[in-house]
Amino acid sequence: MDLSKKRVMVTGGAGFLGKHVVKKLVERGCRDIIVPRSKDYDLRREADIEKLFQLSHPEIVIHLAAVVGGIGANQVNPGKFLYDNLVMGTQLMELSRQFGVEKFVAIGTICSYPKHTPVPFKESDLWNGYPEETNAPYGLAKKMMLVQSQAYRQQYDFNSIYLLPVNLYGPEDNFDLETSHVIPAMIRKCLEARNSHSPSITLWGDGSPTREFIYAEDAAEGIILATERYEDSEPVNIGSGQEVSIKDLAESISRLVGYEGQIVWNSDKPNGQPRRRLDVRRAAERFGFTAQTPMEEGLRKVIEWYEASGNKTGEV
Ligand SMILES: NC(=O)c1ccc[n+]([C@@H]2O[C@H](COP(=O)([O-])OP(=O)(O)OC[C@H]3O[C@@H](n4cnc5c(N)ncnc54)[C@H](OP(=O)(O)O)[C@@H]3O)[C@@H](O)[C@H]2O)c1
Repeated sequence: MDLSKKRVMVTGGAGFLGKHVVKKLVERGCRDIIVPRSKDYDLRREADIEKLFQLSHPEIVIHLAAVVGGIGANQVNPGKFLYDNLVMGTQLMELSRQFGVEKFVAIGTICSYPKHTPVPFKESDLWNGYPEETNAPYGLAKKMMLVQSQAYRQQYDFNSIYLLPVNLYGPEDNFDLETSHVIPAMIRKCLEARNSHSPSITLWGDGSPTREFIYAEDAAEGIILATERYEDSEPVNIGSGQEVSIKDLAESISRLVGYEGQIVWNSDKPNGQPRRRLDVRRAAERFGFTAQTPMEEGLRKVIEWYEASGNKTGEV
């Protein structure tokens, strides 16, 4: 598919991942990009989606809009994380079908995998158990788009695909400690402690879990390649295939930031899922995607970005 000739709607296109996806579309020559904002169109409301589609007539919909956050935000808002994400996804795909959208790209999440999935996580393991409790409402809400994608392809021949990005990091990320994911939270804590000469920082959990991260720009490239080349409702992981422990990650970030104090682990706080690493072969086989950015290089770039322009709090 030649995206330069398509009218593409990117829901959540002004968010963290969305900005990278829109940039990639522009690089592909796409000039007809619609980014609906939540203040104008609340995608939980069917009437708002209808109005949006009547006005903009998208040919492709890349659905990134979601309520997201780290373990803390998921624990405080399980109802909202379930309802908003479920209702946005279900309605958007249904109205895309009704309005004759050519292709719907649903963005899922690694949080949909069962808590004790064998590592590396294969797409065929997605239904083999309940997700980790702290993020199950979010993970299951997003997983319904996979069921919908398969059911709609079978009954209506509606063309949609379902991608599961692993944890993202990169410039434009959310650094608000109430709602951020682990990497921006660690960067911010290390920078603040370095600048205030604090002897220690405290991080959640015991540092033992492992995670996989993908640089947001790489994930955006994976999403665009899948949009261009992949035409199936079989789910596909979008990851880097690299696993790192939270403890090693914290040590790398404190070294890159130049923080020399101590890292204290608060094991009263939850660890989340014990291990995460994706099997990334299907994305390579089906649409030629492999992540390119080594973790150390990506971390350096995001720290530079936050110090230069991302620090909106004025506290560092
Ligand atoms: N961040 C990660 O590590 C990660 C990992 C795997 C998958 N994902 C998935 O990637 C996608 C993007 O995540 P992100 O980290 O980029 O999130 P983000 O920065 O919070 O962006 C999400 C966007 O969704 C929009 N949105 C939320 N509620 C809405 C509503 N009711 N109506 C209309 N728009 C609404 C917001 O638009 P406004 O700005 O206009 O309010 C916001 O910009 C999500 O689907 C997420 O599940 C993220």
